[in-house]
Amino acid sequence: MAKDGSGIGINTRLAHSGNNPRDYFGFVNPPVVHASTVLYPDAATMAGRKQKYTYGTRGTPTMDALTLAIDALEGSAGTIAVPSGLAAVTIPLLAFLAAGDHLLIVDSVYHPTRHFADTMLKRLGVEVEYYDPHIGAGIAALIKPNTKVVFTESPGSNTYEVQDIPAIVKAAHAANAIVMMDNTWATPLYFKPLDHGVDISIHAATKYPAGHSDVLLGTVSTNAACWERLFDGFCTLGCCSGPDDIYQVLRGLRTMGVRLEHHRKSALEIARWLEGQPGVAQVLHPALESHPDHALWKRDFSGSSGIFSIVLKGGGQKEQHAFLDALKIFGLGYSWGGYESLAVPVFLGDRTVAKGSYAGPLIRLQIGLEDVEDLKADISHGLAAAAAIS
Ligand SMILES: Cc1ncc(COP(=O)(O)O)c(C=O)c1O
Repeated sequence: MAKDGSGIGINTRLAHSGNNPRDYFGFVNPPVVHASTVLYPDAATMAGRKQKYTYGTRGTPTMDALTLAIDALEGSAGTIAVPSGLAAVTIPLLAFLAAGDHLLIVDSVYHPTRHFADTMLKRLGVEVEYYDPHIGAGIAALIKPNTKVVFTESPGSNTYEVQDIPAIVKAAHAANAIVMMDNTWATPLYFKPLDHGVDISIHAATKYPAGHSDVLLGTVSTNAACWERLFDGFCTLGCCSGPDDIYQVLRGLRTMGVRLEHHRKSALEIARWLEGQPGVAQVLHPALESHPDHALWKRDFSGSSGIFSIVLKGGGQKEQHAFLDALKIFGLGYSWGGYESLAVPVFLGDRTVAKGSYAGPLIRLQIGLEDVEDLKADISHGLAAAAAIS
């Protein structure tokens, strides 16, 4: 197989990237190396610091097995594995920003990313500004001499606006700013940020790579130009993740292609069905022809994952809660990408630019691996309960 995994199918790549079984007596899976101390053979080697592994925070064979597998998927020069998806957002921002810098963040961003920017980054002297997810090339008008990072997330959290990433990259690079992208929704299977010019690709591996709602992990992958600075920030902050969690994510990666395909099919079937339900005003899923950004999604993405939102036809929090409380299979809980279906109420009150105008309350649905007919029946109970309110 080519080192970068090119020229082979995605499921073959998922099954074989990362560790080389020949390195560990032929065992197909890598060892879980619990490590802080690494021994050096002599003082000269210790002083030279050229030994492959030097200390547990800086890398282990288990960490390398996962990060090399992610590099093969992302086409990246290097990847770090950190303790959560949120850490995968905060660590590159800390590594690439300093007091006096200007940061542009898409307004449809994952809420904790906004919270980090509005609290810690502002306190550290970073100027934070939010932009419309549909801005595209128009981002050039917001870029200032001190703009260092443009942060993107596409599709956006909860409302699934698709960003024109190549246009944003072009404008940012013309001003020497780097572009980061939270690509958790698509995974590198359906969108490869670095192929579209993005410098840093961020993934909450808690979701589809882990896949079982039991492990928290994040990965950050960069092009060659950004790698040294990111790795230095990673080591400086000392926020490596534990070997057991890393191992579980590598294990999850082996089956991610088949799971994601199932999530994709089921979510799309349910989204199409929901469009015809009387209590539903709108389905916010970019792979639907009715979605305002469908053409952009079709241009850049090769698939869609298992999470989207619906807008109820009228009503407010009472209807929203009635829908949620009537569900029996869908659990009420945060996160997504696991095997089980989940539903949460959507809150857009934190937005400053992309508030949107919706006919009723929004509900986010994570479609798990259950049978579609059972999920439709469960959603029908929710819709009936919401309709019974009015
Ligand atoms: C788009 C996005 N990015 C990042 C995260 C953070 O991931 P984690 O839960 O592992 O911190 C989430 C979690 O829901 C998310 O939806």
